[in-house]
Amino acid sequence: LHVAVLHGGISSERTVSLSSGRAIAAALREGGYDVTLIDMGEDLVPTIAALRAAAPDLVFNALHGRLGEDGAIQGVLEWLGLKYTHCGIRASAVAMDKEATRQVLQAAGLPVARGMVVDMPTLAASDPLPLPYVVKPLAEGSSVGVEILRTGSNRRVEIASGWRYGPTALVEEFVPGRELTVAVMGGRALTVTDIIPKHAADGFYDFDAKYVAGGSVHQLPADIHPEAFEQALRLAEAAHRALGCTGATRTDFRYDDTSGDGPGRLTILEVNTQPGMTPTSLLPEQAAHQGISYPALCDWIVQEALS
Ligand code: DAL
Ligand code: MG
Repeated sequence: LHVAVLHGGISSERTVSLSSGRAIAAALREGGYDVTLIDMGEDLVPTIAALRAAAPDLVFNALHGRLGEDGAIQGVLEWLGLKYTHCGIRASAVAMDKEATRQVLQAAGLPVARGMVVDMPTLAASDPLPLPYVVKPLAEGSSVGVEILRTGSNRRVEIASGWRYGPTALVEEFVPGRELTVAVMGGRALTVTDIIPKHAADGFYDFDAKYVAGGSVHQLPADIHPEAFEQALRLAEAAHRALGCTGATRTDFRYDDTSGDGPGRLTILEVNTQPGMTPTSLLPEQAAHQGISYPALCDWIVQEALS
């Protein structure tokens, strides 16, 4: 079977995608697939030419972020009549937009953070929510552009004037506690990982904590209240379904267990439709924990997309 692995792209997560794609290509080759690795650059035309020349049975989408995870490349692949892995146009587009995701999940009765979309003059003028709160780009991944504003912070005006992520931002209440994540394969949740960033005193799982080796400690299965553990699994499956996702996804949570007793409160932050596949990534780690090796995970993603 011939698989074209698309990686790179032009989003702020380009380097992450290059790493994901290289690992996927190596694993698929090891599994006996005929693989063409395609680095998508600024110009779409050479990529289309490479895809036409390769004429693969399937495209393994290893892109992350803008134009790779938001329905754009999915539309191109549909246009070319090529089958591809992960989510289709609609689920990709909705999941990449953090506000659209929030609305779909909220309508499905799932717990999301209180938040709103603001333009930059509004943010510059005053605090849109009581401190602490989080300012996020509507459509970035890997925590790019995410800022936490705390009591006493004077960064608000600076953030508004330096904003590089479009005319608006999502402002959300800051949920204290821990960062959890749950991968879903074929509609079934794998396990819960508790992500403990090493350096950030505020427990913020930022870009470096995600990709610098040793930047964070992953505890899996997470040592949390059993009810919260079970609830996180079910919520990830429900979020995957509500957004119309296919293949493998990963849902990120904040988990507030600061009040002591009881299972605590889970808040869904987002659903990643192109979960990272780098050596430090969370989906491969959860799969390994369930006895699914990295090559077996790649093989499952391919076979699921073909079925
Ligand atoms: N956005 C990165 C790749 C992730 O969710 O794993
Ligand atoms: Mg993400």
